[in-house]
Amino acid sequence: MTVGFIQTGSESGWRAANTSSFKETATTDGITLKFYDSQNKIENQITAFNQYIQDPAVNVIVLAAVGTTGYDDVLKSAKAAGKVVVIEDRRIEADSSLYYTYIGSDFIKEGHEGEAAMCDLLKAAGKTTANIIEVGGDQAASAAIDRHKGFGEALANCSAVKMTVLDYQNAPGWDPVQGKSIMEAFLKKYAGKIDGVMGHNDELAIAAIQAIDASGLKAGKDVQVIGFDATADGFKYLINGELGADIECNPLLAPQVYKAALDALNGVTGQQAWTPSQEGQFFAAQGATALQAILATRKY
Ligand code: AHR
Repeated sequence: MTVGFIQTGSESGWRAANTSSFKETATTDGITLKFYDSQNKIENQITAFNQYIQDPAVNVIVLAAVGTTGYDDVLKSAKAAGKVVVIEDRRIEADSSLYYTYIGSDFIKEGHEGEAAMCDLLKAAGKTTANIIEVGGDQAASAAIDRHKGFGEALANCSAVKMTVLDYQNAPGWDPVQGKSIMEAFLKKYAGKIDGVMGHNDELAIAAIQAIDASGLKAGKDVQVIGFDATADGFKYLINGELGADIECNPLLAPQVYKAALDALNGVTGQQAWTPSQEGQFFAAQGATALQAILATRKY
């Protein structure tokens, strides 16, 4: 197997863990890996696709998609060129006949889990009504689109607290520096009115926490904050109590992806169109000792 891996970029701790999963597993499994960092630009991903389609050595192309649309033509060309294509991490809007399989997270379900976690945190904080702010990931990414959708559609499930999403803004490229500025602006615009914050990944949640603390409020006390990914950095803030909940997104997908690609090369058919990732949730309420023990067992 010679795999052309088109990665989104290097926007987060999660992404670094995902990249390591592919590089390390390729080494252990004796797979030739050609790695392409798309700098979070869709046009770069199209360039990479065409590069790997032209490359006679490449028999498998793996895509972690920056956006959800714009891949149909290169998928068709890859198919015509006899390349196996596997989509990892993020869903795309393309007919599943254009790729072998998709292995990645159910981001809508993650949004639902985020809503349930926020509901419990606000209930425990004695709230009956609450205003929520969303600091979103890149607006093109299915992870951001679906977490936002999942959280929003589940709001009515919280019988104890009437939650309202007061405002939502995307940080281009998942940039935490821009995420912090977004939160600082919201803290000014909605002074004294913010009860909860949903950061679309750990870096954005931590950026929001830093802005909240700098404003004189206390994250985890005056404002409840949740994040997504459950990286080591996220655990640090769960342990100090500033992050109330962290919805896991599993980056260690390479073994499944390479297995699927090998199946495809061996002519295996009847594969699932989508294999949702195995993921959990973590809460500050679990306590520092328990969270420390869990953290010690984790690879990212
Ligand atoms: O697609 C998964 C998301 O991409 C992660 O939640 C985020 O950290 C990364 O940028």
